[in-house]
Amino acid sequence: MDVLDAVRRKAWDSRFYRAPQQTPAVPTMLTPEEGVMLSWLGEHGFTGEGAVVELGCFLGGSTVKLASGLARSRRPWTLHTYDRFRIDEPNKERFLYRNGYPRFEGEDMYPLFLQHIEPFAANIVAHRGDVEDHPWTSGPIEILFVDLAKTVDIHNFVLDSFFTSLIPGRSIVVQQDYLHHQTPWLIATMELLHPKLELVSWTRNHSVLFFCHEAITASDLDRARYERLERRDVVQLFRSARERFPFEFQREMVAQALDTYRASPQADKSYMLRASEAPPRLSPYAAPVWTPSAIRRSATRWVSARLGRLRRLARR
Ligand SMILES: C[S@@+](CC[C@H](N)C(=O)[O-])C[C@H]1O[C@@H](n2cnc3c(N)ncnc32)[C@H](O)[C@@H]1O
Repeated sequence: MDVLDAVRRKAWDSRFYRAPQQTPAVPTMLTPEEGVMLSWLGEHGFTGEGAVVELGCFLGGSTVKLASGLARSRRPWTLHTYDRFRIDEPNKERFLYRNGYPRFEGEDMYPLFLQHIEPFAANIVAHRGDVEDHPWTSGPIEILFVDLAKTVDIHNFVLDSFFTSLIPGRSIVVQQDYLHHQTPWLIATMELLHPKLELVSWTRNHSVLFFCHEAITASDLDRARYERLERRDVVQLFRSARERFPFEFQREMVAQALDTYRASPQADKSYMLRASEAPPRLSPYAAPVWTPSAIRRSATRWVSARLGRLRRLARR
């Protein structure tokens, strides 16, 4: 199978693809489609040339999706997963107690993670603690799933530590937060790493998949530093990123992320970025939004159109 071609076609959408099921289901923050995509990637996107790395596994929902696919690949595999394995009370309520898990004291979710991944435990290496304390040293990476780049600092660490181990012509990177308004650094940097990392596919919500065509070097990463970009460059990168999506839904997600960025361009942590209430302005279908800057822009356009007309009349 030509994996790149299959990923472009979103082969996980096929009615003939039956993703492995987990019973009972492991709580996850992913959408069902993202889970199926990860299982498909493990089963069909893995050749054994490199390791599989998951950054941000939470209770193990994405871990078992990837692992159950890898188990079907019939190749020897190891899945390296990274997390702090701490859970707060709101997330306990939302993902555990509501699903019938017994209440417990403290924040440690590692025992639950171990329980969830138990059928695949022999092939999973868990790196506990802050990812920044665990630089990657285990060779080429074939599949890289990123679901913890919630700050510019962590994002930069992920780039420096993991991206230079991607395999040209083979590796697939999944940026889970890409189609989300709170991580503008993902959109800007991935755009700067194009065409070495080509945006090739996506799920309806959140995840975007990239294929590695050429090795990523330290100087590529140096050039792609988000914190050094001018505001107008970020806006331009959002515009070109949006053009890579042929469908309106994802284009609007990128447009919404741009609006959110414009509202707080200095934010370097997800929680600092709040979704704008207005419909995304890049969308051709969005109704006009009369914010002060939109009024200023319209007034400027109106005045320059009138001046142009007067000049043309004067020349006659
Ligand atoms: C959105 S959740 C991951 C969801 C998961 N993939 C799933 O299927 O439900 C992000 C995870 O990243 C972890 N995380 C965030 N920052 C981290 C860091 N600096 N080091 C290690 N883990 C981190 C959090 O503990 C959290 O479990």
